[in-house]
Amino acid sequence: MSVPLTFDGKVVLVTGAGGGLGREYALAFGQRGASVVVNDLGGNAKGEGKNSAAADKVVEEIKAKGGKAVANYDSVEDGEKLIQSALDAFGRIDIVINNAGILRDRSFSRLSELDWDLLQRVHLKGSFNVTRAAWNHMKEQKFGRIIMTASAAGLYGNFGQANYSAAKLGLLGLSNTLAIEGRKLNIHCNTIAPIANSRLTQNIMPADILENLKPEYVSPLVLWLCHEQCEETGALFEVGAGWMGKLRWERSPGHVLLRKNHPMSPEAVRDQWDNICDFKDASHPATISESLMSMLSMLNKEPAGDGLVANPTSSLGHNP
Ligand code: NAI
Repeated sequence: MSVPLTFDGKVVLVTGAGGGLGREYALAFGQRGASVVVNDLGGNAKGEGKNSAAADKVVEEIKAKGGKAVANYDSVEDGEKLIQSALDAFGRIDIVINNAGILRDRSFSRLSELDWDLLQRVHLKGSFNVTRAAWNHMKEQKFGRIIMTASAAGLYGNFGQANYSAAKLGLLGLSNTLAIEGRKLNIHCNTIAPIANSRLTQNIMPADILENLKPEYVSPLVLWLCHEQCEETGALFEVGAGWMGKLRWERSPGHVLLRKNHPMSPEAVRDQWDNICDFKDASHPATISESLMSMLSMLNKEPAGDGLVANPTSSLGHNP
């Protein structure tokens, strides 16, 4: 039998843990020995109001099962306060799950500045504030695990969710850079795009589908990514309905339009459009240098007979 993954001695903060996915993460960490800070502002799905009941209830659930937990009712916008709760109650912070979220869906023409600002403040700036407050503690102890919560709406776009999509893909950018800065410090940062039955999805999907989207199908991935045995960092996963998979960038081999003594022109772009967009023999650059190197490698190559060099990325930057 394989050895169970436990979190004894670890302190985890789960933001927005009063319901939905966050509650599930908090319960799962609590059951496996972590000391849990259950943060939740307790407002409605649009980010209005506040209430301590949601976080308190989850703390009671964890304690009832023999776990260790404390509640925190601050907004993620006050990141320092959340981390201070962890330090006051348990003396350290090891794992941060940036999960708190709200929705203010409107088609773009009706989107107000408030709808935009609130979404960025809770999702993107909230995750920044909480993570930054934890970072130096993780750095000193040479251990940290961070999860950012993106969304398919950010990865693919979704009608009526311009504010949400922008914040969610912003979190991926944040995570990618934190993974690089954290690598030598044993601080890992990964991003998930979950799908689950919660109050955010209750009115937008049919009941029979929602039944198959249990939040407990997402928490195993989050726990594994946060375990000390897990080496993964800087990665992005879609997860839901009992399934999980990893995503990466794909780049077409592209086409070099530069010809000696010829200026680049929009007409040449038009004429080579099919080649530029053809994903046959695509590459998967995983770092900024892989991306740049394959472009710069073209500088020293003589153009072919027609002045065009094909397939600049086929020999470089592969990262299967
Ligand atoms: P949920 O509404 O059940 O949970 C979000 C929690 O965050 C709520 O309990 C809420 O009170 C709390 N919260 C909101 N603003 C806060 C703030 N400023 N400070 C502290 N807590 C705050 O929603 P769900 O579905 O569990 O969402 C969790 C995360 O997963 C969110 O970031 C959401 O955007 C993301 N997500 C969820 C999907 C789904 O299918 N349920 C799909 C894609 C992403």
